[in-house]
Amino acid sequence: MPTILITGANRGMGLEFARQYAAEGWRVLGTVRDPMAGRALSEAGGEVYVCDVADPAQVARLKASLAGVGLDVVLLNAGIYGEKQDFGDVDAAAFMRVMAVNALAPLKLAEAFADQLAGPKVIAAVSSMMGAMSDNTSGGSYAYRAAKAALNMVMKNLAVDLAPRGILTVALSPGWVRTDMGGPNAPLDAATAVAGMRKVVAGLRVEDSGALIHYDGSRLAW
Ligand SMILES: NC(=O)c1ccc[n+]([C@@H]2O[C@H](COP(=O)([O-])OP(=O)(O)OC[C@H]3O[C@@H](n4cnc5c(N)ncnc54)[C@H](OP(=O)(O)O)[C@@H]3O)[C@@H](O)[C@H]2O)c1
Repeated sequence: MPTILITGANRGMGLEFARQYAAEGWRVLGTVRDPMAGRALSEAGGEVYVCDVADPAQVARLKASLAGVGLDVVLLNAGIYGEKQDFGDVDAAAFMRVMAVNALAPLKLAEAFADQLAGPKVIAAVSSMMGAMSDNTSGGSYAYRAAKAALNMVMKNLAVDLAPRGILTVALSPGWVRTDMGGPNAPLDAATAVAGMRKVVAGLRVEDSGALIHYDGSRLAW
């Protein structure tokens, strides 16, 4: 049975990833921050682990809980939008928090779990078009944009460093999706975005490793 580790699996796209992978027969190991928030994940067929991805002690505890478990895919989904990030109003602590959760935590999780990857060996991160220089025509969102741009570089760097171990990486762009973060006006539902991203992960080739790929399969410019 293929096994996937998904961060931020209690709601939004993380929960939808858990639902879809579990429905396809995968063993789903999902993380939640709040121990009381695991019910939907559990009902979706996932195993619930508690982990704030920005807390090194909790990541170490997760690693210990999953010792010896072979993973086919590590899906780094957990993320925050942040606050106070318009020009002239950028809050330093809020900025650093977004960087810690969206960019540094995925790297530390990759470091923690790379040696447990077996089978297809994919590390995928949910990034965003907002991290792409090529797509920035509206400005603003300094912390979120900077953190997703940093995440894209982390995934590209991991692709280089982990290639000798046969590990492929990808930064996924889900589009604008109706979740708590995306809001009610987003054009895409989570089921569609997640189905598309799962297809990208399943079809990932060596030559794609490190790329930023949209949920519809198109490769995006940085
Ligand atoms: N929705 C969009 O349109 C959109 C577009 C592009 C990219 N994305 C990216 O897609 C990913 C999922 O977003 P979403 O739209 O599904 O958002 P969401 O509904 O707000 O869900 C975010 C998830 O991340 C978890 N999380 C946040 N901080 C965490 C931390 N420090 N440690 C562990 N888990 C943490 C949340 O847990 P709690 O419930 O404990 O807060 C929640 O499970 C994010 O990386 C986001 O940046 C979203």
